[in-house]
Parts: sequence; C-alpha cells; structure tokens
Amino acid sequence: MHSFGYRANALLTFAITILAVLCGLASLSDNFNFPSPSAEVQVLNINWFQKQPNGNDEVSMTLNISADLRSLFTWNTKQVFVFLAAEYETPKYSLNQISLWDGIVTSKEHAKFLIHTSNKYRFIDQGSNLLGKEFNLTLHWHVMPKTGKMFADRMVMPGYRLPQDYR
Ligand SMILES: *[C@@H]1O[C@H](CO)[C@@H](O)[C@H](O)[C@H]1NC(C)=O
Ligand SMILES: *[C@@H]1O[C@H](CO)[C@@H](O)[C@H](O)[C@H]1NC(C)=O
Repeated sequence: MHSFGYRANALLTFAITILAVLCGLASLSDNFNFPSPSAEVQVLNINWFQKQPNGNDEVSMTLNISADLRSLFTWNTKQVFVFLAAEYETPKYSLNQISLWDGIVTSKEHAKFLIHTSNKYRFIDQGSNLLGKEFNLTLHWHVMPKTGKMFADRMVMPGYRLPQDYR
C-alpha cells in the first residue's frame, strides 16, 4: 500500500511531465509555422530638414505605415515587438540604424494596421550625411512566445531618398 503522500507526489510528477511535453510541443509546432508578414511604408511628407548648430542633420517626416503581421501569431505567441528603422551607409559606418517608430502588438486582431504618423523618435545623423542620402526603411519584429525561444526577423524596403536641400 502506498501512502497518500506518495500518490500525490507521483501525480504531481506525472502532471509536470505532461506539462513539459506540452511546452516542448508548443515551441516545436511553432517551428513549423513559416510566417510571411507584409509591410509597405510611404514617406508622405518631409516636414522639415535642418542642420543643427552642432552640425548634425535632422529630418522630420510623415510616414504611412501599413503592415500585416497576422501570420506571426500562433496560439503560442504572447506579443510582437515591432520597430521601423531608417538604415543608411556613411563613409564612417557601413550601417547606421535609426529607429523611427515602434509598437507592441498583443493580438492577431491588431496585427493588421495602418498608421499615419510623423517619426516618433528623432531622425538625427551624427554628422552631416543626410543631404540626398539614400536609405532603406526596415521593419524589424521580435516575436515573444508564451513558451520557447524568442525569434526576430525583418523586412527591408529599399529605395528611399532624402531631399538634396534643407527645408
Ligand atoms: C497609406 O497607405 C495605404 C496602404 O498602402 C493606402 O491605402 C493609403 O491611401 C495611404 N494613405 C495616404 C495618405 O497616402
Ligand atoms: C539597403 O537595401 C539594399 C537592398 O536590400 C541592400 O543591398 C543595402 O545593403 C541596404 N543598405 C543598408 C545600409 O543596409
């Protein structure tokens, strides 16, 4: 005869094992989801473009960001952190990355969105490199699962260019 304590303990061990297996399956099944998010960003307006007294260029722009990140959501997705970065090359650095906007998407219902906004974070170059500068807008996303490893990916939208003159 086993004591009550022994049985309770065996039951608990069994429950924990099942839970561990389920968590394993959850993150495993996530690996078979091949997400295909889409995004499109238009620069609707250059609000102003100046050289600051310290010599750094700063630009303010109005963006039209549309994205469909619904395919990132599975039943194991807790939330998605997303940010839009301007990426460009300068003589000093092959990659300069400036975050212009970010957000947290907490459900599939909110994962398809259209945002009309001026840049939330300042677009300042540490130098005077922005006149006529070609840049990419890259949408980065970090998927935080309920269980398992976080994963990150991005989508590059090339071919943007800043004006040749300050305004
Ligand atoms: C913003 O982008 C959406 C989707 O690409 C488009 O339908 C809409 O007309 C754009 N808005 C403006 C003001 O250009
Ligand atoms: C911008 O995108 C193009 C095309 O994907 C790529 O070749 C280039 O390296 C990118 N520029 C930067 C600064 O990341």
